[in-house]
Amino acid sequence: MLRVRATSARVARASGAALFFTLAACSGASRPAPSPEASAAPATTLAPAAPAGPRLYVTNERSGDLSVIDLASKTVVATVPLGKRPRGVRVSPDGTVLYVALSGSPFAPPGVDEKTLPPPDRSADGIGVVDVRALKLLRVMPVGTDPEQLALSKDGRRLFDCLSGLWCSPLGHSHPKVVAAIRKQVDTLDYAPAFQMGHEPAFQLATRIVELAGRPNDRVFFVNSGSEAVDTALKIAVAYHRMRGEASRTRIIGRERGYHGVGLGGISIGGMVANRKMFAPLMIPGVDHLPHTWNPAEMAYSRGQPTWGAHLAEELERLVALHDASTIAAVIIEPMQGSTGVVVPPRGYLERIREICTKHGILLIFDEVITGFGRLGAPFAANYFNVQPDLTTFAKAVNNASVPLGGVIARDDIYQAFMTGPAHAIEFFHGYTYSAHPLAVAAAHATLDVLAEERLIERAAELAPVLEKAVHSLKGEPHVTDIRNLGLAAAIELAPVSGQPGLKAVKVFERALDEGLLVRFGGECLAVAPPFVSTAEEIGSMIEGLRRALRAVPA
Ligand SMILES: Cc1ncc(COP(=O)(O)O)c(C=O)c1O
Repeated sequence: MLRVRATSARVARASGAALFFTLAACSGASRPAPSPEASAAPATTLAPAAPAGPRLYVTNERSGDLSVIDLASKTVVATVPLGKRPRGVRVSPDGTVLYVALSGSPFAPPGVDEKTLPPPDRSADGIGVVDVRALKLLRVMPVGTDPEQLALSKDGRRLFDCLSGLWCSPLGHSHPKVVAAIRKQVDTLDYAPAFQMGHEPAFQLATRIVELAGRPNDRVFFVNSGSEAVDTALKIAVAYHRMRGEASRTRIIGRERGYHGVGLGGISIGGMVANRKMFAPLMIPGVDHLPHTWNPAEMAYSRGQPTWGAHLAEELERLVALHDASTIAAVIIEPMQGSTGVVVPPRGYLERIREICTKHGILLIFDEVITGFGRLGAPFAANYFNVQPDLTTFAKAVNNASVPLGGVIARDDIYQAFMTGPAHAIEFFHGYTYSAHPLAVAAAHATLDVLAEERLIERAAELAPVLEKAVHSLKGEPHVTDIRNLGLAAAIELAPVSGQPGLKAVKVFERALDEGLLVRFGGECLAVAPPFVSTAEEIGSMIEGLRRALRAVPA
């Protein structure tokens, strides 16, 4: 039976599209009991010996068996019982063939002469040219049975998940309470429409989120990803001004180096050159950008917030003078830029941005897709910096990334601005079929339970100085040109390989795999943001592994 709750007239109107701004009126989330995670061992298949040609040798998900993948057809041509756990992955000098090395030796499956495999290339620049496309064929699978729940494995072996997935799994993987909540939910309500109505746990979740954020009167619009959250926030901002009779306020101010997902709004206001170049004709008009705040000459190796750079907020006044405040709807920034390499706001910068927005009636949107739910050791970055935006986007850690979920938190008076039309009309023409999907919502309740019960946001705060001290000890190691950190996040900037942008970080990434570390590379930067359930020892080992990886890559 579909159990949905018809909402009050006011809220039903509010939810005219996709549980719009669910009323924060309910409390008392269900507390699912933990259940042990079941393990699943895939069956071993024997297939004919692989034909010659460029191949990728990887081990099978959880079993550790070796699969031979034909790179041309991208099909698995053989699966061989291995019985041993391979040590690492190597890339051929031509960049097309990856294979598994056992204890440093190339391994060939039956029927393939070991000598026909290229040896690990440790000449010249050390690892050879890495074909990231081939690398993507590696299937990184969570090891749900890992007692410490930190592991991702590409070959059945434990890897320390240095970035908590993609900044999104602070509880580690397959947390039993989250798994149990999803299982229970699918048995009782697998889907509920979010237009003109909402299911009870979604309302409860909205309540919990705004209370956690310290903004108990605010509202939540649920979506399915960070990208959708960003595009939703932009629409709310523009529509809000229109509802209030200021329809000329349509311009959005983003920031260089900003990452706001891959929707057309997100790439337009974002500051990633690759997106802006590739999709230039699709950029929404009326966007301008603040300068980013990273200046290595002034702030290299800053610990936490740099002391230089607050004056860059004045650039907003310049943009207001250029475009006139009457044309500007919103400023959107990540309070801490994550995806482009942990760019930490200078002291006083966010405060000044807030002041300027308030002065000119411009909405301030914090994109907290990475920082939301504890990454800085506070519920949201807004709490950490004590600077409140008008709209906040979130996703990722809200439910430990177990089922897609995101959302926008909006000030109550923004919500109220939409509640002025006829009672039967849709106030905000926007929403997604899967908004507040019951499985995602159940997973979010369980995640918030775990965050509270295990005091994990506090633990992130406690681990932050541990990470800071450890990561800054990499100063002076080969390739390192800057180190930045805030909360439980850090980035290590590397000197680029001449003429080959981005290659250095890929090389260190590969060496880090050998050390049992899954780090994130992007541009010339390595990023780490370990799960909140990490121990201080694991953070120390992570940094020591990175140190060895850095030293193993020749200049
Ligand atoms: C700040 C920020 N906004 C938006 C997004 C996009 O989120 P998603 O990948 O869930 O669409 C990301 C993703 O990393 C992000 O870091």
